[in-house]
Amino acid sequence: MAEATRRLFFALWPEDAVRLRCDWYASSLLGKRIRRVPAENIHLTLGFAGSVTNEVCRCLEAQAETVVVEPFRLQIDHLGYWHRQRLLWMGPTHMPNELWALVTAIRDAFDACGLQVDRRAFQAHITLARKVSAALPAGEAPAIDWPVSSFCLVQSVISDIGVSYRVLRRWTLEGAH
Ligand code: 2AM
Repeated sequence: MAEATRRLFFALWPEDAVRLRCDWYASSLLGKRIRRVPAENIHLTLGFAGSVTNEVCRCLEAQAETVVVEPFRLQIDHLGYWHRQRLLWMGPTHMPNELWALVTAIRDAFDACGLQVDRRAFQAHITLARKVSAALPAGEAPAIDWPVSSFCLVQSVISDIGVSYRVLRRWTLEGAH
């Protein structure tokens, strides 16, 4: 029998204030006609592991335990639109060093656990809506200040009613002492 797997990814998981501001901004842009990512699903992916076994999951958790990155602030101040995916997103214009360090640490964790590492340049983005056919102008967005103090391992559960996410573990960011 095939071993059970779960679809996992590492993400920054915002507090409600940040989540609601992103959702409010998306609703002001899109109105009611276009279905947007539900507020409770809003997140910023650090690395997508895909479907992994329990053993790989434990390996990823052990690797995440060793991550040493200071807490930081993220300014979400850019609106982007990817034509090919028809995806509307928000992200930071400036990538803090700590975010680079986190993404690198997650890619190293994937490598250490035998997963394929995404070698494409990382583009920090929070997906607001998919299948947006009207091209929206990319550019400045009202800044949302996001104090980042942890990162998470999240399970993506796909069902008839859509996708839902379960935060499995959360690690508090702490610099080296
Ligand atoms: P997206 O928002 O840009 O679609 C959970 O599905 C998260 O992982 C989403 O944020 C999604 O990014 C990202 N994701 C899903 N499939 C992916 C893939 N094959 N490669 C990279 N990221 C993926």
